[in-house]
Amino acid sequence: MTAQDTQVLVATDIIKTFGEGDNATQVLRGVSATIARGEFVALVGPSGSGKSTFLSIVGTLLKPSGGALRIAGEDVLGLHERALSEVRNRHIGFVFQFHHLLEDFTAIENVLMPVFGAHTRVTGGFIERAHDLLERVGLADRVSFRASKLSGGQKQRVAVARALVMKPELVLADEPTGNLDRKSSDEVLRLLRELSRDEGTAFFISTHDPSIAQRCDRILTMVDGRLTG
Ligand SMILES: Nc1ncnc2c1ncn2[C@@H]1O[C@H](COP(=O)(O)OP(=O)(O)OP(=O)(O)O)[C@@H](O)[C@H]1O
Ligand SMILES: [Mg+2]
Repeated sequence: MTAQDTQVLVATDIIKTFGEGDNATQVLRGVSATIARGEFVALVGPSGSGKSTFLSIVGTLLKPSGGALRIAGEDVLGLHERALSEVRNRHIGFVFQFHHLLEDFTAIENVLMPVFGAHTRVTGGFIERAHDLLERVGLADRVSFRASKLSGGQKQRVAVARALVMKPELVLADEPTGNLDRKSSDEVLRLLRELSRDEGTAFFISTHDPSIAQRCDRILTMVDGRLTG
């Protein structure tokens, strides 16, 4: 294995400009970061500094204006949408501040959504994994509950299980505990750490909560479109 293979994410000199001409605003001004397999990394910084923009680019949901990006050893910026969505489905899991569950679907159906999205057959193996993950996040007795019948903290735990169902190497979480009270937020972080340790998944988590950041292996700080440390 080469040194590069141990890095699940290598972002080099990422630039992002929104708008054109006089209205152009450079939001990311040359951001470089690497995340190794299994690493647990926080992304902090003031509101508007570019954290969500950077996570969207790393998650291949948004194209940068410049720079290079490797995900699990693959150079992704040259890929067409179809190949890109395959990389995204196979290697990346997402947890957002707002869980984005489908309210009319059950907990387990929500966890299985990425499998449907990847156009992969929902085999017994995936169903078993979805059950296991729901059990891991403490929702064994809520598997068949509709999402609309779950509390905010429970929904966020379903979202964590959903992010992991495809066994991604990298999970991107944009303020995953932003809407939770202290206790639920500590609980979600504890779960993420546990799953990261057990499955070797890397996590990249933006947060405004210092107590969450302090429990990560490493903290990256974004200020005005640049990483300062
Ligand atoms: N689609 C867009 N078009 C134009 N400007 C945008 C767009 N998306 C984000 N921006 C601008 O980019 C800057 C960075 O936004 P971003 O959402 O990345 O910040 P953030 O660090 O995640 O902030 P927060 O902590 O509040 O979530 C902001 O000034 C924002 O207005
Ligand atoms: Mg943000």
